[in-house]
Amino acid sequence: MDINRLNKPHEIDVLLANKVAEMIANKPTINLGLATGSTYINFYKACVEQLNTQSIEVSQLQTFNLDRYFDQTVDDDSSFEAFMHTHFFDPLNLNPTQTHFPYIEQESDTGKYDQLIDQAGGLDVILLGIGVNAHIAFNEPGTPFTSKTHRITLADSTIETNKEFFTTHESMPKEAVTMGISTILSAKKIILVAKGANKAQAISDMIHAPISESVPATALRLHENVEVYVDEAAGSLI
Ligand code: GLP
Repeated sequence: MDINRLNKPHEIDVLLANKVAEMIANKPTINLGLATGSTYINFYKACVEQLNTQSIEVSQLQTFNLDRYFDQTVDDDSSFEAFMHTHFFDPLNLNPTQTHFPYIEQESDTGKYDQLIDQAGGLDVILLGIGVNAHIAFNEPGTPFTSKTHRITLADSTIETNKEFFTTHESMPKEAVTMGISTILSAKKIILVAKGANKAQAISDMIHAPISESVPATALRLHENVEVYVDEAAGSLI
């Protein structure tokens, strides 16, 4: 695990925007695993800027989002689909055939997302955030490291943290569909970003706690190509 501490969140966004733009330039058919959340808003902005400024071809890349709330319509403003359209897909004018989200509406959908990723040739790089309880994607504490894309019940701390994004707190879904931990670990490269003091304990646990399913992010220590970027506050307990 390669840990990088930068002073300001903005420095992480610019550095990663350059890195991801270069990856896309080098492999126009790249498969990107993408995160939603406040951590990545300014990264997406910087990345779109880089891609446009350098006129990098984006018409052949494929995106696979990590997770989405269960039973939420695509045009709901608080959906992860809406987030991605606003911050990345629409500014880049991506074709809907290039973007993918995990859907498990019925039993028979199980396995389809992992199959789709495999058929596309696997994820070249996955961009991850981390929850205050060290969840990755929506893999809450206790999720088996062997898990593939699945439906989960959100932890109380996740509901508490994310409810601010909903107009009424009651309207926040209590379930989600998420890539599994083994889906995440199957990516060739993993980049994890954390910003702010509320992520400091999760980052410290990810690095120092015993590798265990009770701390989902510790699974990343089992992968040989992980880069972590934290700002001063998120890295303060390392
Ligand atoms: C959310 C998402 C994760 C995200 C993480 C951090 O609940 N499921 O994919 O990385 O928690 O979110 P934020 O960047 O808003 O702190």
